[in-house]
Amino acid sequence: MELTVELNHPLVRHHLTILRDQSTPPSLFRHQVNRLAWFLASAATADLPVEPRKINTPLVEMMGCQISKRIALVPILRAGLGMVEPLLSLIPEAEVWHLGMYRDEETARPVEYYCKLPTGGGADIGFVLDPMLATGGSVLSAIEILNRWGCPDIRVLSVIASRPGIDRLQAEYPKLRIFVCAIDAELNDRKFIVPGLGDAGDRIFNTLG
Ligand code: PRP
Repeated sequence: MELTVELNHPLVRHHLTILRDQSTPPSLFRHQVNRLAWFLASAATADLPVEPRKINTPLVEMMGCQISKRIALVPILRAGLGMVEPLLSLIPEAEVWHLGMYRDEETARPVEYYCKLPTGGGADIGFVLDPMLATGGSVLSAIEILNRWGCPDIRVLSVIASRPGIDRLQAEYPKLRIFVCAIDAELNDRKFIVPGLGDAGDRIFNTLG
């Protein structure tokens, strides 16, 4: 089993190209994040455990199955919000645990400003949602929070990651499962992913100014 999965699907590459294009307006950008999150969700849920469930079709009784684990979606605000809806469509029973973080512009380190984890313990599987994985600092903070909370199976879903960010996550958590649409080669001196797509949060929420 590949621990880091880079989707190599023609439709992913097609929609990612539109997402990267600086002429793509916020309305379409949001749509593209949503579309790409469906692909990520499909890959990241391919081995979800199920339990048997007996039903009656209009013709016969049969044994089907249902998801058997408590699942949490963990969007990192703001940009991660753009990935929630497709995941929630596929897993309607999932809980959504919001984590607010922004990157300090000087240090590029994540600053936590909101943490909405439920009382009553952790989930079996947590999907960390953030379209961008640059230095990896924000995702690492989210993983630390989830580990403290209690979440034995953490999976990271990101639209674009940088190679240095992936290397850092793999070094800190060798068994971590990561699902991305693309891994870009580098970060620039402002710690932006290159070629990347700019600032996903600003492009989703139309706050570029
Ligand atoms: C961006 C992005 C990630 C983070 C990635 O968020 O959405 O959360 O930076 O960088 P890292 O891997 O180096 O931590 P940003 O700080 O721009 O906040 P926003 O989502 O509110 O725009």
